Amino acid sequence: MAAEPGRVLKPVNSSSGPDLATAVKPGTGRVQEKTPTSTDSARYQRMAAEPGRVLKPVNSSSGPDLTAAVKPGTGRVQAKEKTHMSSEATRKKWTLEDFDIGRPLGKGKFGNVYLAREKSTKYVVALKVLFKSQLQKAGVEHQLRREIEIQSHLRHPNILRLFGYFHDKSRVYLILEYAPKGELYKELMKNKRFDENRTVTYINQLASALLYCHSKKVIHRDIKPENLLLGHTGDLKIADFGWSVHAPSSRRTTLCGTLDYLPPEMIEGKLHDEKVDLWSLGVLCYEFLVGKPPFEAETNTDTYRRITKVDLQFPPYVSEPGRNLISNLLRHDPNQRISLDKVLEHPWIKDNLSPITS
Ligand code: ADE
Repeated sequence: MAAEPGRVLKPVNSSSGPDLATAVKPGTGRVQEKTPTSTDSARYQRMAAEPGRVLKPVNSSSGPDLTAAVKPGTGRVQAKEKTHMSSEATRKKWTLEDFDIGRPLGKGKFGNVYLAREKSTKYVVALKVLFKSQLQKAGVEHQLRREIEIQSHLRHPNILRLFGYFHDKSRVYLILEYAPKGELYKELMKNKRFDENRTVTYINQLASALLYCHSKKVIHRDIKPENLLLGHTGDLKIADFGWSVHAPSSRRTTLCGTLDYLPPEMIEGKLHDEKVDLWSLGVLCYEFLVGKPPFEAETNTDTYRRITKVDLQFPPYVSEPGRNLISNLLRHDPNQRISLDKVLEHPWIKDNLSPITS
């Protein structure tokens, strides 16, 4: 969970480089401490590059325009989106000294995520700080390597960019795209559940991002509200590729955390493929509409039982077409699950698709 806005960062046990505890003051050209409002964040993210400087475009097949062409002499940025680093920037050797560190954005098992700004370009990013000792203790170094390898090569508007990484004696740092509207699960907690329109918008964006991943044989395997962030316009961004792999795969790492989003074939330890993400999409769709995942139970054993039996029940307010899509995703047999192409063509999706205004 992220700390409250404005909170001063706790000192991190730093052996070298700048202290991440430094809360930087607004108006000093350093990273702001308050939570940016949407206007703020848009302004904040715009790159104040030096006049006349033109950043090279990133080799991107989709997603926002990553170039920041600055009109000579004006210092103004002409392009629409300035939240991404240039390709030169993504190839650079980084150190902690290159960044001003701001408020914490979120807490993770192996460290925290901070708002940060690259000093020379003023790019605003999210810096994920992971402690090597904790990664080693949990034996997940291979997962981190895979996360970096996979996420840094993906380019899709609904997938959080990983621009690069660096490390020092005790920590690994991931330079991530900053998602100004934060964590989706907080929105879900605040609203209890989402209406059909909002659910469909998110499911449509997720399906599109997963279709892209699957076309590259990448399976995410950990689609849940905690791993979803919201961009500047409320657009969904898949984050945290720590469990992702290339299909097909068998699970060798011990499962930890909730079983709620896992398909039968994964909890049963079977060989699985990209169809695991279809199951999780069904679980997520249910949770958006109902406010809790479909197989929730008191104990892990009971959740396990409900998943393997596909014990699916809907509250009365879930519409027939909504039930139809969810039931077609939550099939025990992976080959019976509706494909992502067909999800995007499903009448319930097509009929309810409209932009989120709030
Ligand atoms: N919380 C965790 N990661 C984040 C990110 N990249 N942007 C915004 N909030 C976050």
